[in-house]
Amino acid sequence: MLFRKKKTAAPRVIPTHIAIVMDGNGRWAKRRGLPRQAGHKVGAEAFRTIANYAKSIGLSYLTVYAFSTENWKRSDEEVGAIMELLERYLREAIADMDKNRVRFCFFGDLSRLSPELREEARIAAERSSKYEGVQVNFCLNYGGRAEILRAAQRFAAQCAAGEAKPEELTEQRFSELMYSAGIPDPELVIRPGGELRISNFLLWQSAYAEYYFTDVLWPDFGPKELDLAIDAFNHRNRRFGGAK
Ligand code: FPP
Repeated sequence: MLFRKKKTAAPRVIPTHIAIVMDGNGRWAKRRGLPRQAGHKVGAEAFRTIANYAKSIGLSYLTVYAFSTENWKRSDEEVGAIMELLERYLREAIADMDKNRVRFCFFGDLSRLSPELREEARIAAERSSKYEGVQVNFCLNYGGRAEILRAAQRFAAQCAAGEAKPEELTEQRFSELMYSAGIPDPELVIRPGGELRISNFLLWQSAYAEYYFTDVLWPDFGPKELDLAIDAFNHRNRRFGGAK
């Protein structure tokens, strides 16, 4: 009897950690003749959908750039609208926590945020720490360079206090001084919105990440686009500096 070997596609690998620059909200709104805030509102919904999808496909960590250290340069109206959206999102996330069971973590200097938003971030992180499954890291008032400087200052303070010596510093130890301490580096960094730059996002952690850029604007970025990014990741030949 002739057996034809059944062709089975290799199972696709889901990265452990995906990071996303949620870009293109403003243009999405402009194309529709709407204020930029309207784009952020739909962008927040896009995030909700992606977070749920990430959980359903077994992703462990999803890190999103929600507000950068540079975003304060925008109009008060726009900054206020983004902050309001974040507050509302966190309030709802806290209320629905037992249903969604997503762990929340925050990267960035939260001291410049409103006391209300800070308190919601604190509650969300504290109450969700018990859940297993996907962890969402919100980058708020976050900048990659600022994060590296903060880690350097923390290490310098340890040295000054006699708790460490400069020659003891290793990449591993430095990583533990980042906001992302204990979290594996992202294997895949996605930037929708058509710009081919990384804009101060996870500079230390993405040393060996695969980048995926798409023209799709963030409010239109759904599970299908995340699948395309993961498929592209599956076709990359990751060598980490080794030979082909
Ligand atoms: C970049 O698009 C987006 C931001 C600076 C803000 C991201 C915020 C959200 C998605 C809303 C709040 C998030 C959550 C999760 C509740 P852009 O405004 O720079 O777009 P543009 O490049 O088209 O102008």
